[in-house]
Amino acid sequence: MGKNKQQIIFLEGQKVILRPLRKETDLESCLRWINDPEVRQYLKNHLPFTVQQESDWFDQLSQRTGDIILAIETLEGAFIGTMGLHRIDWQDRVATTGALIGEKDYWGQGYGTDAKMVLLDYAFNTLNLRKICSSTFSYNKRSLQYLLHCGYQIEGRRRRQRFRGGKYWDEIILGLFKHEWAPIWKRYQETGKVR
Ligand SMILES: CC(C)(COP(=O)(O)OP(=O)(O)OC[C@H]1O[C@@H](n2cnc3c(N)ncnc32)[C@H](O)[C@@H]1OP(=O)(O)O)[C@@H](O)C(=O)NCCC(=O)NCCS
Repeated sequence: MGKNKQQIIFLEGQKVILRPLRKETDLESCLRWINDPEVRQYLKNHLPFTVQQESDWFDQLSQRTGDIILAIETLEGAFIGTMGLHRIDWQDRVATTGALIGEKDYWGQGYGTDAKMVLLDYAFNTLNLRKICSSTFSYNKRSLQYLLHCGYQIEGRRRRQRFRGGKYWDEIILGLFKHEWAPIWKRYQETGKVR
């Protein structure tokens, strides 16, 4: 499948691997993605990101106890984005997922779904988390679609919560329990499809 022996793998899916981030090789791409208007329109941050800010972000990654952020790499070795578990609460056993595929040519081809399914397997079956949350802006149809495919349920809607492109948009709040995800994971492992 084009994998090489040097590749560092933390989680392995059918189209991607997830691995720890590496400042030396990853900073430049992350900086490009987070500043790109086409990508940024879907993210919560809206201010310019400097090299220094990005560098500081990388430096404090390993000290963050409530976040696990991984690089998404195709099986062929292209670094295309990041995905993470945030605000992990070990008592309530809940966390929030976030994703950013910054290489736009890779959007809409199942890479995000694959990365999310293996991250959820790790969250539920290794970390023993109970519930995974997420949210997306109402105009981010691709994000909503892939979250629903992975089993997330819509739990609510923050009305006119975000101001983007001169308008207010709803924020859609989603949540997922292990028992809702498990049959989708079984199907995905057997057929390579979430539905
Ligand atoms: C959101 C994101 C992680 C999804 O990953 P992805 O690899 O692009 O998504 P997938 O290809 O796995 O799934 C996307 C689904 O949405 C569908 N889709 C794609 N474009 C769409 C559109 N404009 N409208 C509706 N559905 C769309 C795809 O067809 C696919 O559904 P399908 O399996 O029924 O065909 C990725 O697109 C991304 O990082 N985007 C930019 C940043 C972002 O939005 N982050 C999330 C913030 S909440």
